[in-house]
Amino acid sequence: MPTPSAPVTPPLPYTPRYPIRTERLDLRPVTPDDLPAIHAYQRRPEVCRYLYWGPLDEAGSRASVAAKAARTTLREPGDLLQLAVVVRESGTLVGDVTFVWRSSEHRQGGIGYVFHPDHAGHGYATEASRALLKLGFEELHLHRVQAELDGRNTASARLLERLGMRREGHLRENEFLDGEWSDEVVYAMLAREWRARQDERARQR
Ligand SMILES: CC(C)(COP(=O)(O)OP(=O)(O)OC[C@H]1O[C@@H](n2cnc3c(N)ncnc32)[C@H](O)[C@@H]1OP(=O)(O)O)[C@@H](O)C(=O)NCCC(=O)NCCS
Repeated sequence: MPTPSAPVTPPLPYTPRYPIRTERLDLRPVTPDDLPAIHAYQRRPEVCRYLYWGPLDEAGSRASVAAKAARTTLREPGDLLQLAVVVRESGTLVGDVTFVWRSSEHRQGGIGYVFHPDHAGHGYATEASRALLKLGFEELHLHRVQAELDGRNTASARLLERLGMRREGHLRENEFLDGEWSDEVVYAMLAREWRARQDERARQR
């Protein structure tokens, strides 16, 4: 068992083997060709309602796609992986996910996700986010993975609860966004909870 201050393993820089495959999805690096598919949801106000950015015009999405395309490898704490989520059977890009490696010393990470509403309600975001938890706990040996959301973002809260993450905090009016005070909610999962959940899922199969 590594000590709390053990360095992240495997050795850095760490690049996952792409694509990361789930039952229905491939998670792979973003490319400039993904601009139309990604802009199709980044431009929609309802998608960005509880995000810190957007809606984006085409130039904004082009910059966002270029930034995401460069985030495929973890070199030091603070680095992100930003991956396109593609339905393997159809080749359709349905959204993108973010994994942040927050701390080596404290073995902490975070996840985020944005999906096109046309592809909501199929469990794709849950499935892709579960792959990020697996990466964090099983490849990077993190101790804890966290997600933060606007307190009004009930679809995101349901997703995190489906993943088995715990609602740990509700911060009242700690952010001033778009001219109003808003609450932030924090969910998290520990490595031992991930393992217990995996054991439970295996038993149910
Ligand atoms: C947050 C967000 C990704 C959730 O999308 P979603 O479609 O609800 O999530 P999923 O793709 O996991 O689909 C889950 C839904 O599909 C249903 N579903 C169908 N098949 C499923 C399956 N095989 N597995 C899991 N859920 C399934 C679930 O019941 C659930 O519906 P419900 O929430 O009405 O109960 C989406 O609303 C979004 O992109 N919002 C804008 C960006 C954003 O706010 N990001 C989060 C910032 S914190």
